[in-house]
Amino acid sequence: MKSLNIVGGGRLGKVLGRLAVLSGAYHVTAVLCREAAHAREAAAFVGAPRALTRLAELPAADLTLLAVPDGAIAVVAAALAEARVLPAGSVVFHASGALDSVQLAPLAAQGALTASLHPAFSFAEPERALETFGGTLCALEGDGDACGQLAMLVQAIAGEPFYLKPGGKVGYHAALSIASNYLVTLLSLAQGVVAAAGVDDATARRLLGALMTQTLGNALALGPAQALTGPIGRGDAGTVAQHLTVLEPDDGALYRALGLATVKLAGERLDAGQQAALLALLGNGE
Ligand SMILES: NC(=O)c1ccc[n+]([C@@H]2O[C@H](COP(=O)([O-])OP(=O)(O)OC[C@H]3O[C@@H](n4cnc5c(N)ncnc54)[C@H](OP(=O)(O)O)[C@@H]3O)[C@@H](O)[C@H]2O)c1
Repeated sequence: MKSLNIVGGGRLGKVLGRLAVLSGAYHVTAVLCREAAHAREAAAFVGAPRALTRLAELPAADLTLLAVPDGAIAVVAAALAEARVLPAGSVVFHASGALDSVQLAPLAAQGALTASLHPAFSFAEPERALETFGGTLCALEGDGDACGQLAMLVQAIAGEPFYLKPGGKVGYHAALSIASNYLVTLLSLAQGVVAAAGVDDATARRLLGALMTQTLGNALALGPAQALTGPIGRGDAGTVAQHLTVLEPDDGALYRALGLATVKLAGERLDAGQQAALLALLGNGE
């Protein structure tokens, strides 16, 4: 059975620690927080024998998870290196989606195998997270041996590991932000435009929600290029010109930027004349 330290017994640390214990393949050696009461509560939740507040007291373990906020990862890694408590060859990892394993460089310099493990999951409520974590995709990046051991951990807790190429963490996080955040931005944009056309909020939510859900389903099933419908996909520059007349300047700028990307996506479905007409309209910032 492998040993695991949890530094940061917050939302993610508690749940991953508990799932590791429940798998039967790991025992959590200690849980560490800044506040003693938090450490005790988190250790009880995880089922760990020790609740700590001082990094220097951290026991040796096969794996150590730094589940602290992103802004504290490098600080805690440097402090842990200074405390010299982790054996060379042990795995140290964090769970940030945006940051890579370079944050753990002071520990790597001492012989630790460093990596990051990002579960694409929201740990808002720990008890519920324990029930629903199964099947979660987990991105691994960093030292090859560390990633191999973390893939085993992910599988033990019923997640699904996949690997990022070296230096790929920023692109990975940018993609998640585009897919998640910009989808919300698009809905907000469409809601504003349809409200100006006189549609009430409740109807707008049903109208746009059904369309966006159906379109996403089509795009996932058929691929984005095949799923594309609408005036740009048909090469209908007249309708696009009409749309631009009703949009506020900021909304028009966004419509044009996304329209240019959509012309590219439509590709060979458009003949040279259609492409030129659309590019002239959409590239024109007036
Ligand atoms: N929450 C999510 O849904 C989610 C999803 C994917 C990835 N992640 C990643 O998981 C990591 C942890 O996020 P979280 O949401 O679990 O954070 P959180 O709930 O805020 O918990 C952070 C924990 O870290 C401890 N801590 C903070 N600063 C520390 C320091 N300097 N030294 C030692 N311990 C410290 C806190 O201790 P005290 O309680 O004593 O202050 C707390 O136990 C982040 O890298 C985040 O990006 C989170």
